Amino acid sequence: MTYHRRMRTQILTPQDLSKAVAALSQGEVVGMPTETVYGLAAVFSNPEACLKVFEAKSRPTFDPLIVHVCFTDLSVTFLNQLSNQGLINLTEIPANLHSKIELLLRSFWPGPLTIVLPRGPRVLDIVTSGLNTVALRSPKHPLSQELIRAVGQPLVAPSANRFGRISPTTANDVVTELGGLIPFVIDGGRCDIGLESTVVMPLPDGTLRYLRPGAIGKHELELFWRGPVTPFYDADELAKDTQGLKAPGRLPSHYAPKTQLHLLPKALSAMSDSDWERMREIAQESSVLGVLCFQGDPSPLNELLKTQLKQPIVVKVVSPRGNVKEAAHLFFGSLRVLDLSPAEILFSEPCPWNDHGLGWALQDRLTKASWKESSF
Ligand code: TXA
Ligand code: MG
Repeated sequence: MTYHRRMRTQILTPQDLSKAVAALSQGEVVGMPTETVYGLAAVFSNPEACLKVFEAKSRPTFDPLIVHVCFTDLSVTFLNQLSNQGLINLTEIPANLHSKIELLLRSFWPGPLTIVLPRGPRVLDIVTSGLNTVALRSPKHPLSQELIRAVGQPLVAPSANRFGRISPTTANDVVTELGGLIPFVIDGGRCDIGLESTVVMPLPDGTLRYLRPGAIGKHELELFWRGPVTPFYDADELAKDTQGLKAPGRLPSHYAPKTQLHLLPKALSAMSDSDWERMREIAQESSVLGVLCFQGDPSPLNELLKTQLKQPIVVKVVSPRGNVKEAAHLFFGSLRVLDLSPAEILFSEPCPWNDHGLGWALQDRLTKASWKESSF
């Protein structure tokens, strides 16, 4: 897809929100902070505006968008409000699931949970890529809530990066990704969580299917969903899927830096002689290396790398004190710093937290961001 629009991208302060509201109402796209990552917003009912979202991101139109909503009336069930707005088709949701879904939404909204439900009559084909389901989320960031309220309509918002690239967690990241292609980005500070929302889909048999791991982990979901919560598809399962339950956005390559990223088999401190040998072989043609570590004191890690490898190395330790929340908060930013550094090849330790929550989500992003033909 070619995109010819060139313009100056302006970073707006929260005081200038009315400019963003006017632009959205006139069919423009705007970079919007959320608590997960920055989104590229457009009014959900405007097909030309939705098309601009796909074009600015160079995103293929077979990858559907999330519709972002905001509730002001807490006395009516969320499901009824979504149905009244024409966003979902309640009659296609088995009646015995209504109260379970309502409880789930009341527990996690506003927040980093996206739910896939049967699509209602006001949802455009371009938003769902023609699927008969729609993904919905109520974001928690006050500026995204204010924006949805002021525009008076739900907003579609995929992450505000070029398709397949690193997700943006600051307004400057959005400018790096989409500068010149969009008129505005609202600066709402660095995103609190730093990873995209958890995407789930209730199935008619009462199972809650995970389509994308995110900030809300399996155990938290199980607390509120009194039924089985089954893990997301991995790439092999996805390839074998015949039941039409795929999450179309779960392409194997995603969130990737421009510089080739190789996933190391173990943490640096646990690598064997043959692991180091393999790393030297992979890196031999590159004059500068970049290494992403998740935790630990940077100086011994630097020393270890210096003794094992000959080239200059840029090292980024995401959370020296080893805190998984901090690691999620800073992960995409750290990857971006390495991608913009002089390093010609990147390596990353695997995520050290195997926790069915943020750790899972981090490892998912890392696997998708890394070079598929890597021989580690
Ligand atoms: O945290 C987030 O969810 C961020 C912020 C901006 O809200 N948004 C985001 O959007 O990550 P995006 O477009 O980058 O990812 C949306 C995911 C994709 O994997 C997409 O395929 C999936 O949701 N999705 C959307 N509609 C779907 C549907 N009807 N069925 C299954 N998956 C769907
Ligand atoms: Mg994305």
